[in-house]
Amino acid sequence: MKTKQKATVKKVTSTNGSMVDISLKFNEGWSYSPAPESTDHVSIKERYELFIGGKFVKPIKGKYFATINPATEKKISEVANASSEDVDKAVKAARKAFGPWSSLPARERGKYVYRIARMMQEKARELAVIESIDGGKAIRESRDIDIPLAAAHFFYYAGWADKLDYAFPNKKPKPLGVAGQIIPWNFPLLMAAWKIAPAIAVGNTVILKSAETTPLTSLKLAEIIQEAGLPDGVVNIITGAGDTGAAIVNHPDIDKIAFTGSTSVGKIIQKAIAGTDKKATLELGGKAANIILDDAPLDQAVEGIINGIYFNQGHVCCAGSRLFVQEGVAETVIRKLKDRMQTLIVGDPLDKNTDIGAINSKEQLATINKYIKIGKKEGADFYQSACDIPERGYWCRPTLFLNVSQSHRIAQEEIFGPVLAVQTFRTVDEVIEKANNTPYGLSAGIWTDKGSKIFNITSKLRAGVIWANTYNKFDPASPFGGYKESGFGREGGLPGLQAYLNLG
Ligand code: NAI
Ligand code: MG
Repeated sequence: MKTKQKATVKKVTSTNGSMVDISLKFNEGWSYSPAPESTDHVSIKERYELFIGGKFVKPIKGKYFATINPATEKKISEVANASSEDVDKAVKAARKAFGPWSSLPARERGKYVYRIARMMQEKARELAVIESIDGGKAIRESRDIDIPLAAAHFFYYAGWADKLDYAFPNKKPKPLGVAGQIIPWNFPLLMAAWKIAPAIAVGNTVILKSAETTPLTSLKLAEIIQEAGLPDGVVNIITGAGDTGAAIVNHPDIDKIAFTGSTSVGKIIQKAIAGTDKKATLELGGKAANIILDDAPLDQAVEGIINGIYFNQGHVCCAGSRLFVQEGVAETVIRKLKDRMQTLIVGDPLDKNTDIGAINSKEQLATINKYIKIGKKEGADFYQSACDIPERGYWCRPTLFLNVSQSHRIAQEEIFGPVLAVQTFRTVDEVIEKANNTPYGLSAGIWTDKGSKIFNITSKLRAGVIWANTYNKFDPASPFGGYKESGFGREGGLPGLQAYLNLG
């Protein structure tokens, strides 16, 4: 995509006394040629049914809804809208499968989970393209991050299936039963993997509902699961909106709810299951502090800031959306950050050069634009890169606000878009206090040359995941989850396994 912008002219005096222009000129003399990922290997049906009891079945009420490509606003396919009757059918299928599945020798269960992982790897290219078409994320990310990590989760939990006695010595781990799993639209296949892999590896059966704007990779996963020969009803995958999610939450024969999504829906779920035996893990919103100390390696830190907030269009619960820069380096960091922002390519998610793809939905774009307006009105200094954006589709240029204060809504509320709120600080104590002054507690980042500062600050931040001199690094062996309004429970690693077990 061709991008044009006017760089501010910076001049210095050269050795012969003449003025030389040293300003960075982005995309003026050159631009990337299009590098589209091919789509001819991808098969998407015109219509998808519900995956219940090992078969694709029509929704009882016969209702369907469209899923669109947010980069083109065109309909891709239509998927079933599951009613509470369909949910009931899926719960019955999962309940029926639970007895035989949970009593299967653990190493046999492990083999199925391995098989799913390997088949996901075989179909990785197709899954990556579909993820980008359906959700808008850059192919570079779906290809290199989402899909490989999703397969890695299945591999990781397949390995634990027959080793529970080592994972939890002197306990008698037992599966919980039927798990209802509700996932969001920002990492569709990855969230399906986080939820399904640990649950089935240890003998539970599941009903998973994908998010309304991104159902396709979950349905592709259903096809893989069917092809893998997983016993009928162990995994049921359904599509629908909030009502379908609520029907899962309220179904009396569900033993555990695993939810990732907004804090507001997390609160509804917690109220709905209060007083029942249902167990829950809730992974909700975030407003992470990314802290740059004055001894940090600044160029790496700038890359970390960019990755922290512009990765996946900023649709990331652990996004480093609040930047805190120590005063001594603030000017340099912000200059370098603005320059780096100008190089980011916004556009076609299927182009391999694209850094920032399409905003997931019209609704989410409206939310982001609402917050940009609020930020301007609150008096923060607005800055946006000057790149071109396509005419159709939902787009947002990389954005930052300077001179933000703690009380600003853009510093307190989750925007879930490519919008960074920047503040400065003088002392370590001050930044710890500011970083913790939020209702959320999911993640944080620290950049410094000194290990002692890392230990000091990480021990005082109330956040579930803290990265030092890096950001947004994920591994199936590493637990993930939050404090406060970011939810509770952990996914990944052994804690992620424990969330699907009764330890007796
Ligand atoms: P949402 O929380 O409504 O959607 C997440 C999932 O929950 C979807 O599958 C949805 O169908 C389901 N759901 C909705 N209402 C439900 C209910 N009453 N009971 C059970 N399930 C229900 O999030 P939405 O509206 O798509 O996004 C709004 C905001 O939420 C975003 O702007 C962002 O700030 C935050 N969000 C955070 C996510 C995270 O990963 N922490 C993911 C998605 C959204
Ligand atoms: Mg879509």
